[in-house]
Amino acid sequence: MTGSVRFVLGGRVVEVRDPAPATTVLNWLRANGRPGSKEGCAEGDCGACTVVLGSLTPEGRVRYRAVNACILFLPMIDGKLLLTVEDLAGEDGDLHPVQKAMVDKHASQCGFCTPGFVMALFALYHEERGVEAGLSDGAIHDALAGNLCRCTGYRPILDAARAMTAAAAEDRFDRAEEGIATLLRSIRREGSLTVTHGAASFHAPHSVKELAALFAAHPNATLVAGATDVGLWVTKQGRSLPTLIHLAQVRELHRIEESAGALEVGAAVTYTELLPVLERRLPELAALVTRIGAAQVRNSGTLGGNVANGSPIGDSMPALLALGASLLLNRGGVRRELPLDRFYHGYRKNDLKPGEFVERIRIPLPREGQRFATWKVSKRRDQDISAVCAAFLLTLDGEGRVADLRAGYGGMAATPARAPALEAALAGQPWTAEAVAAALPALDRDFRPMTDMRASDRYRALVARNLLMRFLLHTTGAGMASLEAAHG
Ligand SMILES: Cc1cc2nc3c(=O)[nH]c(=O)nc-3n(C[C@H](O)[C@H](O)[C@H](O)COP(=O)(O)OP(=O)(O)OC[C@H]3O[C@@H](n4cnc5c(N)ncnc54)[C@H](O)[C@@H]3O)c2cc1C
Ligand code: FES
Ligand code: FES
Repeated sequence: MTGSVRFVLGGRVVEVRDPAPATTVLNWLRANGRPGSKEGCAEGDCGACTVVLGSLTPEGRVRYRAVNACILFLPMIDGKLLLTVEDLAGEDGDLHPVQKAMVDKHASQCGFCTPGFVMALFALYHEERGVEAGLSDGAIHDALAGNLCRCTGYRPILDAARAMTAAAAEDRFDRAEEGIATLLRSIRREGSLTVTHGAASFHAPHSVKELAALFAAHPNATLVAGATDVGLWVTKQGRSLPTLIHLAQVRELHRIEESAGALEVGAAVTYTELLPVLERRLPELAALVTRIGAAQVRNSGTLGGNVANGSPIGDSMPALLALGASLLLNRGGVRRELPLDRFYHGYRKNDLKPGEFVERIRIPLPREGQRFATWKVSKRRDQDISAVCAAFLLTLDGEGRVADLRAGYGGMAATPARAPALEAALAGQPWTAEAVAAALPALDRDFRPMTDMRASDRYRALVARNLLMRFLLHTTGAGMASLEAAHG
């Protein structure tokens, strides 16, 4: 055990002895002679603080991921390579290909957003160079969706992204890869990390067993996985979190187990890690996950954090509720499994007992003949909070009647929830526009949505209905004319 957080920065190992655990990486950088990364929003929304973290793959390569330094706690980068905009140019002042493309395309508009754009593009440049056909505009947009340019100068930035990938070649980070890997191996930790700072402490256990014992001993500690929710409690709400237990170093929590009928997702699996598996096994949910935050948020944030945080507008839960997901909970090594639809008791209240944590999420996959879809409705495609999110799993009997419909909704109540009245109203009914239209008023018994700055209650109620109608269209291909006739 050591109280030093160790990471690689500027080509050498940096040790920070017992930092205040909730110090953000951004604040630490700016206080330690690296002001290139900027603070715009301090809540993960604007990308001005984007830095890149490098870590070793099982094959010994270095993988680069863009993250928001403003909501990342310093001890969370233990064992990683930290790259900031100051690191990209060579010592002789040679610009990195990403920087050169930004200059050549006149994309460097203001000093505030540009460092974040450059770092987001750097991560893209390194992750996607294997793509033979070059990067699609979609991939470029995805990589930049977490970076806000307030002067609306996106076009030259997109030009730079296209130019950098066209010119993609070996760069000095590739040439230095073996050296970086050696440095990363030299700081690899076999045991857990504990940082203490006055009365505050940060613990990063390495195994589920250690985590269970630690949390049982400190049941008032705050668990932190990616900190894309917890980080804001510090930067926006000014909360002090005296004891933090970090989950990302727990090896077992990064496992995704695939069987014929289900996925078992460890609680520390990030959205980015989960996406390739979802694309193969559950593409409808993969499409939704690409709408959660932006790349920087998905590189840190986890499904486990989303479920445990239990926000009424958490986007994964409607789908998980519809699919019949369950949680494997662990308290001091004693495990129990709980269906997700019994997990939430009220606004941000759940069934977790003191010292209990989510170990895995079990997601049953739709069976042959079942239909599943999930959609999020928000004002923007990316980096926006849902007004309403809905998911449906439909099983029809041999005569085209509803044998079972599971509907999960977010944004409609104090917690993400199923719609039991709607489900009951459709049970045994033919899966037709007329029957669905007749069942829709049941949604008013399930939910009394509220009005807030995102949407009015009436809008939410209408969207909830329309999403079910969309599901009907999606599954039957029914024409709009028949829907309108049924709907009046
Ligand atoms: C800019 C931005 C955009 C976002 N956009 C979206 C969005 O589009 N849709 C959406 O749904 N969310 C969004 N979020 C919220 C957030 O990213 C997600 O909720 C994410 O899944 C949280 O995961 P995390 O690992 O970062 O959780 P953390 O912040 O680490 O933890 C969240 C909560 O869960 C608890 N927790 C974490 N892991 C466990 C566990 N294993 N067992 C028990 N408790 C645990 C923590 O104690 C905390 O209470 C956004 C956040 C930001 C900053
Ligand atoms: S400062 Fe805006 S995302 Fe970090
Ligand atoms: S680049 Fe900063 S506002 Fe556009």
